[in-house]
Amino acid sequence: MLATRVPLTAIFVILFGGVTSLRDVMLLVEPSIIIRGGTAALICSRDMQGSPLYSVKWYRGNHEFYRYTPLEEPATRVFGLPGGYVDMNNSNGTQVLVRRMDLSLAGNFSCEVTADAPSFATQISYKFIDIIALPESGPVLKADKDRYQPGEVLQANCTSSPARPAANLTIYINEEPLRSSETSFHPSENGLLWTSVKADAKVSSELFIGGRMRVACVATIHNVYKNSSNLDFFTPETDPRPERITLNRSSKAFPSWIFLMFLLLLPMMVMSQDYFEYEDLPSYDEQKYEDTIRSMIGA
Ligand SMILES: *[C@@H]1O[C@H](CO)[C@@H](O)[C@H](O)[C@H]1NC(C)=O
Ligand SMILES: *[C@@H]1O[C@H](CO)[C@@H](O)[C@H](O)[C@H]1NC(C)=O
Ligand SMILES: *[C@@H]1O[C@H](CO)[C@@H](O)[C@H](O)[C@H]1NC(C)=O
Ligand SMILES: *[C@@H]1O[C@H](CO)[C@@H](O)[C@H](O)[C@H]1NC(C)=O
Ligand SMILES: *[C@@H]1O[C@H](CO)[C@@H](O)[C@H](O)[C@H]1NC(C)=O
Repeated sequence: MLATRVPLTAIFVILFGGVTSLRDVMLLVEPSIIIRGGTAALICSRDMQGSPLYSVKWYRGNHEFYRYTPLEEPATRVFGLPGGYVDMNNSNGTQVLVRRMDLSLAGNFSCEVTADAPSFATQISYKFIDIIALPESGPVLKADKDRYQPGEVLQANCTSSPARPAANLTIYINEEPLRSSETSFHPSENGLLWTSVKADAKVSSELFIGGRMRVACVATIHNVYKNSSNLDFFTPETDPRPERITLNRSSKAFPSWIFLMFLLLLPMMVMSQDYFEYEDLPSYDEQKYEDTIRSMIGA
């Protein structure tokens, strides 16, 4: 019995030994998330099982852009790669370093390993490489009013600048995320998308924590991008004072002429903050405003 088993095993090795000599070809990409303009290493890992290497080739789609043939001179060859730049100094038979990766380079990449005689076995591994474009500026948050009384409904909207993939936007009140009533994605240049969300919330006096209610919009893209903008609302006061004064509550401590200068300069300062919806300020009583200033400067 034993005598017949041994030859069977030997035949098995002879028949299939060549085929199993090359295995586990894998195209690995580092980092896993590539940002537009960035660099990636395309690592072609394999298990040669001791057999000699004939060639390793890197492709994007059907286009070969790098070849390693250790028995030829030169051993490495670079072909053009539109939308990227192959760094020859940092590429070899194991990895190819691609720099300045453009959005257009996103697609199907592969590496193909061929063993030399006697097996000439070939294996190929594919990987889809995506390239991310981050938004060029932070999210823009707007609210329908600049002060709210308890019981009123706050309506906020937020937009992010174009990105790929589209940024996720979440509106928060005091760290508490609001369920957005509407999220939409809008196409932009180069296949980028900008996002807009809307949310509303009923304002209650408990939301003014320490006199302040903070509405925030946070834009994220996976775990590679996070940016936010805030709008602060202060405790509604029974005695309506000009909105601008409430922006700096400690200003009463200043001598009145400094305060008056501050009042005059503040509109300019406020306008320089891009998220502030200036047109939407409630029109306050002009006479009352002057009275307030007069009483402050003691006139
Ligand atoms: C490769 O390295 C050489 C010598 O260090 C340098 O002169 C050359 O500019 C580098 N080439 C590229 C494509 O980075
Ligand atoms: C190829 O280059 C990488 C990075 O420069 C290096 O870690 C690796 O050892 C090199 N492999 C070979 C076979 O030269
Ligand atoms: C990549 O291209 C190969 C060959 O053209 C194909 O077989 C494979 O399905 C493609 N993969 C993806 C993710 O498109
Ligand atoms: C966002 O809210 C502001 C203020 O209420 C409004 O003027 C603007 O039209 C809104 N934008 C969108 C896209 O809903
Ligand atoms: C957006 O959020 C969804 C749900 O949490 C998640 O599946 C998706 O990957 C996120 N997209 C981005 C670009 O971060």
